[in-house]
Amino acid sequence: MTLVGQDIEKAAALLHEGSLVAIPTETVYGLAANALDPIAVAKIFEIKNRPTFDPLIVHTYDLEHLSDFVFEIPEKLKALAQQFMPGPLTILLRKKNLIPDLVTSGLDHVAVRVPDHPLTHSLLERLSFPLAAPSANPFGYISPTTASHVLDQLSGKIPYILDGGRCQVGLESTIVAQKENKEVIVLRKGGISPEEIEQIIGPVEIVKKSTSNPKAPGMLHKHYAPRTPTFLLKDQNFSTSQNKGILCFQHFANGVPKEQQRILSATGSLNEAAYNLFFHLRALDGMNLETIYVELVPETGLGRAINDKLRRAVEVSL
Ligand code: TXA
Ligand code: MG
Repeated sequence: MTLVGQDIEKAAALLHEGSLVAIPTETVYGLAANALDPIAVAKIFEIKNRPTFDPLIVHTYDLEHLSDFVFEIPEKLKALAQQFMPGPLTILLRKKNLIPDLVTSGLDHVAVRVPDHPLTHSLLERLSFPLAAPSANPFGYISPTTASHVLDQLSGKIPYILDGGRCQVGLESTIVAQKENKEVIVLRKGGISPEEIEQIIGPVEIVKKSTSNPKAPGMLHKHYAPRTPTFLLKDQNFSTSQNKGILCFQHFANGVPKEQQRILSATGSLNEAAYNLFFHLRALDGMNLETIYVELVPETGLGRAINDKLRRAVEVSL
Protein backbone atom coordinates (compact mmCIF):
# COMPACT_ATOMS: atom_id res chain seq x y z
CA MET A 1 0.00 0.00 0.00
CA THR A 2 1.20 3.49 -0.81
CA LEU A 3 0.55 6.14 1.82
CA VAL A 4 0.55 9.87 1.12
CA GLY A 5 1.35 12.43 3.82
CA GLN A 6 3.68 15.04 5.23
CA ASP A 7 5.47 12.93 7.82
CA ILE A 8 9.18 13.63 7.46
CA GLU A 9 10.10 11.20 10.24
CA LYS A 10 8.33 8.40 8.46
CA ALA A 11 9.98 9.28 5.15
CA ALA A 12 13.40 9.37 6.84
CA ALA A 13 12.85 6.01 8.54
CA LEU A 14 11.83 4.35 5.28
CA LEU A 15 14.82 5.79 3.42
CA HIS A 16 17.12 4.59 6.23
CA GLU A 17 15.93 1.03 5.81
CA GLY A 18 16.56 1.14 2.05
CA SER A 19 13.00 1.81 0.85
CA LEU A 20 12.00 4.33 -1.80
CA VAL A 21 10.02 7.50 -1.03
CA ALA A 22 8.60 10.02 -3.52
CA ILE A 23 9.67 13.55 -2.56
CA PRO A 24 8.42 16.99 -3.59
CA THR A 25 10.81 19.49 -5.12
CA GLU A 26 10.20 22.86 -6.74
CA THR A 27 10.71 21.30 -10.21
CA VAL A 28 8.94 17.92 -10.28
CA TYR A 29 8.42 15.07 -7.79
CA GLY A 30 11.41 12.75 -7.37
CA LEU A 31 11.59 9.02 -6.61
CA ALA A 32 14.24 8.95 -3.90
CA ALA A 33 16.60 6.37 -2.41
CA ASN A 34 19.76 6.47 -0.27
CA ALA A 35 22.34 7.48 -2.90
CA LEU A 36 25.09 5.54 -1.09
CA ASP A 37 23.21 2.23 -1.12
CA PRO A 38 23.39 0.48 -4.50
CA ILE A 39 20.64 -1.98 -3.56
CA ALA A 40 18.23 0.85 -2.76
CA VAL A 41 19.28 2.69 -5.93
CA ALA A 42 18.68 -0.42 -8.03
CA LYS A 43 15.03 -0.36 -6.92
CA ILE A 44 14.64 3.05 -8.60
CA PHE A 45 15.67 1.64 -11.98
CA GLU A 46 13.39 -1.34 -11.50
CA ILE A 47 10.28 0.62 -10.49
CA LYS A 48 10.72 3.28 -13.16
CA ASN A 49 11.57 0.68 -15.78
CA ARG A 50 14.57 2.88 -16.53
CA PRO A 51 17.68 1.67 -18.36
CA THR A 52 20.74 1.64 -16.11
CA PHE A 53 22.70 3.68 -18.66
CA ASP A 54 20.60 6.72 -17.69
CA PRO A 55 22.30 8.19 -14.57
CA LEU A 56 20.58 9.75 -11.54
CA ILE A 57 20.79 13.16 -9.88
CA VAL A 58 21.99 13.25 -6.27
CA HIS A 59 20.14 15.64 -3.95
CA THR A 60 21.58 17.33 -0.89
CA TYR A 61 20.65 20.27 1.37
CA ASP A 62 23.90 22.13 0.85
CA LEU A 63 26.96 21.63 -1.32
CA GLU A 64 29.51 22.08 1.50
CA HIS A 65 28.20 18.91 2.94
CA LEU A 66 29.23 16.89 -0.13
CA SER A 67 33.01 16.98 0.22
CA ASP A 68 33.12 13.27 1.15
CA PHE A 69 31.44 12.41 -2.12
CA VAL A 70 32.79 14.79 -4.79
CA PHE A 71 35.98 16.67 -5.66
CA GLU A 72 36.22 20.44 -5.78
CA ILE A 73 33.66 22.49 -7.64
CA PRO A 74 35.10 24.13 -10.79
CA GLU A 75 35.07 27.93 -10.66
CA LYS A 76 32.26 28.74 -13.07
CA LEU A 77 30.00 26.08 -11.61
CA LYS A 78 30.70 27.51 -8.17
CA ALA A 79 29.52 30.92 -9.37
CA LEU A 80 26.33 29.35 -10.70
CA ALA A 81 25.83 27.35 -7.51
CA GLN A 82 26.16 30.48 -5.40
CA GLN A 83 23.51 32.18 -7.48
CA PHE A 84 21.01 29.40 -8.12
CA MET A 85 21.28 26.86 -5.30
CA PRO A 86 18.93 25.99 -3.74
CA GLY A 87 16.98 26.02 -7.00
CA PRO A 88 16.36 24.29 -10.32
CA LEU A 89 20.03 23.88 -11.27
CA THR A 90 22.04 20.64 -11.44
CA ILE A 91 25.82 20.63 -11.79
CA LEU A 92 28.14 17.77 -12.73
CA LEU A 93 31.01 17.18 -10.29
CA ARG A 94 33.80 14.61 -10.34
CA LYS A 95 32.74 11.87 -7.97
CA LYS A 96 34.62 10.07 -5.20
CA ASN A 97 34.29 6.31 -4.63
CA LEU A 98 31.53 6.63 -2.04
CA ILE A 99 29.04 7.38 -4.82
CA PRO A 100 28.15 3.99 -6.34
CA ASP A 101 28.78 3.55 -10.06
CA LEU A 102 25.15 2.62 -10.53
CA VAL A 103 24.15 6.21 -9.65
CA THR A 104 26.29 7.66 -12.45
CA SER A 105 25.93 4.76 -14.89
CA GLY A 106 29.69 4.32 -14.65
CA LEU A 107 30.50 7.97 -15.55
CA ASP A 108 33.17 9.68 -13.45
CA HIS A 109 30.99 12.75 -12.78
CA VAL A 110 27.89 12.83 -10.61
CA ALA A 111 24.95 15.22 -11.11
CA VAL A 112 24.23 17.20 -7.94
CA ARG A 113 21.32 19.41 -7.03
CA VAL A 114 20.01 21.31 -3.97
CA PRO A 115 16.23 21.36 -4.22
CA ASP A 116 14.30 24.39 -3.01
CA HIS A 117 11.40 22.84 -1.13
CA PRO A 118 10.91 23.18 2.64
CA LEU A 119 9.73 19.60 3.30
CA THR A 120 12.48 17.97 1.27
CA HIS A 121 15.05 20.36 2.70
CA SER A 122 14.12 19.27 6.24
CA LEU A 123 14.16 15.63 5.19
CA LEU A 124 17.65 15.94 3.65
CA GLU A 125 18.97 17.72 6.76
CA ARG A 126 17.74 14.84 8.88
CA LEU A 127 19.44 12.15 6.81
CA SER A 128 23.06 11.02 7.05
CA PHE A 129 23.20 10.40 3.28
CA PRO A 130 22.21 12.26 0.09
CA LEU A 131 19.27 11.09 -2.01
CA ALA A 132 19.45 9.79 -5.55
CA ALA A 133 16.21 10.72 -7.30
CA PRO A 134 14.97 10.79 -10.86
CA SER A 135 11.57 12.25 -11.68
CA ALA A 136 8.90 9.98 -10.15
CA ASN A 137 7.28 8.84 -13.41
CA PRO A 138 7.61 5.64 -15.40
CA PHE A 139 10.51 6.06 -17.86
CA GLY A 140 9.47 8.15 -20.84
CA TYR A 141 6.20 9.52 -19.44
CA ILE A 142 5.29 13.08 -18.38
CA SER A 143 6.96 14.11 -15.10
CA PRO A 144 4.68 14.41 -12.02
CA THR A 145 4.03 17.81 -10.47
CA THR A 146 1.61 16.74 -7.71
CA ALA A 147 1.51 13.90 -5.18
CA SER A 148 -1.59 12.50 -6.88
CA HIS A 149 0.26 12.30 -10.22
CA VAL A 150 2.81 10.10 -8.45
CA LEU A 151 0.09 8.02 -6.82
CA ASP A 152 -1.67 7.51 -10.16
CA GLN A 153 1.40 5.80 -11.56
CA LEU A 154 3.33 4.31 -8.66
CA SER A 155 0.51 3.25 -6.35
CA GLY A 156 1.38 -0.06 -4.68
CA LYS A 157 4.99 0.13 -5.85
CA ILE A 158 6.41 2.43 -3.16
CA PRO A 159 5.48 2.73 0.53
CA TYR A 160 5.26 6.51 0.88
CA ILE A 161 4.76 9.77 -1.01
CA LEU A 162 5.76 12.93 0.83
CA ASP A 163 3.10 15.42 -0.22
CA GLY A 164 4.53 18.91 -0.65
CA GLY A 165 1.74 20.31 -2.83
CA ARG A 166 2.07 21.33 -6.44
CA CYS A 167 5.60 21.91 -7.76
CA GLN A 168 6.15 25.64 -8.18
CA VAL A 169 8.56 25.60 -11.14
CA GLY A 170 7.04 22.68 -13.01
CA LEU A 171 10.04 21.95 -15.27
CA GLU A 172 13.03 19.79 -14.38
CA SER A 173 16.31 21.37 -13.35
CA THR A 174 18.75 22.80 -15.88
CA ILE A 175 21.84 20.55 -16.05
CA VAL A 176 25.24 22.17 -16.60
CA ALA A 177 28.81 20.87 -16.76
CA GLN A 178 32.21 22.53 -17.05
CA LYS A 179 34.36 21.14 -19.82
CA GLU A 180 38.13 20.66 -19.65
CA ASN A 181 38.65 23.90 -21.56
CA LYS A 182 36.68 25.58 -18.71
CA GLU A 183 33.71 26.37 -20.94
CA VAL A 184 30.29 25.64 -19.45
CA ILE A 185 27.80 23.55 -21.37
CA VAL A 186 24.06 23.24 -20.77
CA LEU A 187 23.23 19.54 -21.09
CA ARG A 188 19.51 19.86 -20.41
CA LYS A 189 17.33 22.97 -20.63
CA GLY A 190 15.14 23.40 -17.55
CA GLY A 191 13.97 25.72 -14.79
CA ILE A 192 16.93 28.15 -15.04
CA SER A 193 17.06 29.76 -18.48
CA PRO A 194 20.28 29.98 -20.54
CA GLU A 195 19.94 33.78 -20.36
CA GLU A 196 20.02 33.68 -16.55
CA ILE A 197 23.12 31.49 -16.64
CA GLU A 198 24.87 33.75 -19.15
CA GLN A 199 24.22 36.76 -16.92
CA ILE A 200 26.46 35.17 -14.30
CA ILE A 201 29.24 33.52 -16.31
CA GLY A 202 28.98 34.83 -19.88
CA PRO A 203 28.27 32.83 -23.05
CA VAL A 204 27.61 29.11 -22.72
CA GLU A 205 27.20 26.29 -25.19
CA ILE A 206 23.83 24.54 -25.31
CA VAL A 207 23.68 20.91 -26.32
CA LYS A 208 21.57 20.36 -29.40
CA LYS A 209 18.65 17.98 -29.26
CA SER A 210 20.08 14.53 -29.80
CA THR A 211 19.06 10.92 -29.49
CA SER A 212 22.49 9.51 -29.00
CA ASN A 213 24.49 11.78 -26.74
CA PRO A 214 25.92 9.50 -24.06
CA LYS A 215 26.87 12.47 -21.87
CA ALA A 216 23.25 13.46 -21.48
CA PRO A 217 20.88 10.54 -21.72
CA GLY A 218 18.19 12.92 -20.45
CA MET A 219 18.21 14.24 -23.98
CA LEU A 220 16.81 10.98 -25.32
CA HIS A 221 13.71 11.38 -27.47
CA LYS A 222 11.89 8.96 -25.23
CA HIS A 223 10.95 11.60 -22.65
CA TYR A 224 7.94 13.64 -21.57
CA ALA A 225 5.56 11.77 -23.89
CA PRO A 226 1.79 11.61 -23.49
CA ARG A 227 0.12 8.30 -24.44
CA THR A 228 -2.22 10.13 -26.84
CA PRO A 229 -0.74 10.85 -30.30
CA THR A 230 0.51 14.44 -30.11
CA PHE A 231 1.24 16.98 -32.84
CA LEU A 232 2.41 20.55 -33.08
CA LEU A 233 -0.45 22.99 -33.60
CA LYS A 234 0.03 24.49 -37.05
CA ASP A 235 -2.68 25.86 -39.30
CA GLN A 236 -1.93 23.39 -42.06
CA ASN A 237 -2.40 20.25 -39.97
CA PHE A 238 -5.41 21.40 -38.03
CA SER A 239 -8.37 19.18 -38.90
CA THR A 240 -11.74 19.66 -37.24
CA SER A 241 -12.98 16.11 -37.67
CA GLN A 242 -11.29 14.48 -34.72
CA ASN A 243 -11.94 14.30 -31.05
CA LYS A 244 -8.94 16.41 -30.23
CA GLY A 245 -7.46 18.38 -27.37
CA ILE A 246 -5.29 21.47 -27.54
CA LEU A 247 -2.61 22.77 -25.23
CA CYS A 248 -2.66 26.50 -26.02
CA PHE A 249 -0.17 29.13 -24.97
CA GLN A 250 -2.36 32.22 -24.32
CA HIS A 251 -5.67 31.89 -26.17
CA PHE A 252 -8.23 29.21 -26.94
CA ALA A 253 -8.35 27.95 -30.53
CA ASN A 254 -11.57 28.16 -32.54
CA GLY A 255 -13.57 25.09 -33.51
CA VAL A 256 -12.76 22.89 -30.50
CA PRO A 257 -14.81 22.75 -27.26
CA LYS A 258 -13.10 24.73 -24.50
CA GLU A 259 -13.30 21.73 -22.15
CA GLN A 260 -10.86 20.00 -24.48
CA GLN A 261 -8.40 22.85 -24.33
CA ARG A 262 -5.93 24.04 -21.70
CA ILE A 263 -4.22 27.41 -21.59
CA LEU A 264 -0.63 27.60 -20.33
CA SER A 265 -0.76 31.29 -19.40
CA ALA A 266 -3.49 33.76 -20.30
CA THR A 267 -1.12 36.64 -19.56
CA GLY A 268 1.71 35.16 -21.63
CA SER A 269 3.96 34.52 -18.61
CA LEU A 270 6.59 31.87 -19.37
CA ASN A 271 6.97 31.11 -15.66
CA GLU A 272 3.28 30.37 -15.43
CA ALA A 273 3.44 28.36 -18.65
CA ALA A 274 6.25 26.21 -17.20
CA TYR A 275 4.24 25.73 -13.99
CA ASN A 276 1.26 24.50 -16.01
CA LEU A 277 3.02 22.56 -18.78
CA PHE A 278 3.18 18.98 -17.44
CA PHE A 279 0.05 19.51 -15.33
CA HIS A 280 -2.12 20.41 -18.31
CA LEU A 281 -0.51 17.96 -20.72
CA ARG A 282 -1.23 15.16 -18.27
CA ALA A 283 -4.83 16.35 -17.85
CA LEU A 284 -5.36 16.30 -21.64
CA ASP A 285 -3.73 12.88 -21.84
CA GLY A 286 -6.29 11.60 -19.33
CA MET A 287 -9.31 12.70 -21.41
CA ASN A 288 -9.40 9.83 -23.94
CA LEU A 289 -8.86 12.13 -26.88
CA GLU A 290 -7.82 10.87 -30.31
CA THR A 291 -5.08 13.45 -30.67
CA ILE A 292 -3.52 16.33 -28.77
CA TYR A 293 -2.19 19.43 -30.49
CA VAL A 294 0.36 21.56 -28.66
CA GLU A 295 1.19 25.18 -29.39
CA LEU A 296 4.81 26.30 -29.10
CA VAL A 297 5.60 29.31 -26.88
CA PRO A 298 8.03 32.18 -27.61
CA GLU A 299 11.56 30.76 -27.98
CA THR A 300 13.12 32.90 -25.25
CA GLY A 301 14.03 32.44 -21.56
CA LEU A 302 12.11 29.50 -20.06
CA GLY A 303 10.29 29.21 -23.39
CA ARG A 304 13.31 27.38 -24.78
CA ALA A 305 12.96 24.60 -22.22
CA ILE A 306 9.17 24.49 -22.61
CA ASN A 307 9.44 24.15 -26.41
CA ASP A 308 12.12 21.50 -25.99
CA LYS A 309 9.69 19.36 -23.93
CA LEU A 310 6.83 20.02 -26.36
CA ARG A 311 8.87 19.01 -29.40
CA ARG A 312 9.99 15.85 -27.65
CA ALA A 313 6.40 14.98 -26.68
CA VAL A 314 5.48 15.26 -30.36
CA GLU A 315 8.41 13.26 -31.67
CA VAL A 316 7.89 10.35 -29.32
CA SER A 317 4.22 10.02 -30.02
CA LEU A 318 4.71 9.90 -33.80
O1 TXA B 1 14.49 18.67 -11.49
C1 TXA B 1 15.09 17.60 -11.58
O2 TXA B 1 16.24 17.53 -12.03
C2 TXA B 1 14.33 16.34 -11.14
C3 TXA B 1 14.08 16.42 -9.64
C4 TXA B 1 13.45 15.19 -9.10
O3 TXA B 1 15.30 16.70 -8.99
N1 TXA B 1 15.07 15.17 -11.47
C5 TXA B 1 15.19 14.71 -12.74
O4 TXA B 1 15.86 13.50 -12.84
O5 TXA B 1 14.74 15.28 -13.70
P1 TXA B 1 15.79 12.58 -14.10
O6 TXA B 1 16.47 11.34 -13.68
O7 TXA B 1 14.41 12.45 -14.57
O8 TXA B 1 16.69 13.28 -15.14
C6 TXA B 1 18.04 13.44 -14.84
C7 TXA B 1 18.89 13.49 -16.06
C8 TXA B 1 19.13 12.11 -16.63
O9 TXA B 1 18.28 11.81 -17.68
C9 TXA B 1 20.56 12.16 -17.08
O10 TXA B 1 20.62 12.31 -18.44
C10 TXA B 1 21.15 13.41 -16.46
O11 TXA B 1 20.18 13.93 -15.63
N2 TXA B 1 22.30 13.01 -15.67
C11 TXA B 1 22.30 12.51 -14.42
N3 TXA B 1 23.54 12.21 -14.02
C12 TXA B 1 24.36 12.52 -15.04
C13 TXA B 1 25.76 12.43 -15.24
N4 TXA B 1 26.57 11.94 -14.30
N5 TXA B 1 26.26 12.84 -16.43
C14 TXA B 1 25.42 13.35 -17.39
N6 TXA B 1 24.08 13.46 -17.26
C15 TXA B 1 23.56 13.05 -16.10
MG1 MG C 1 12.82 12.36 -15.86
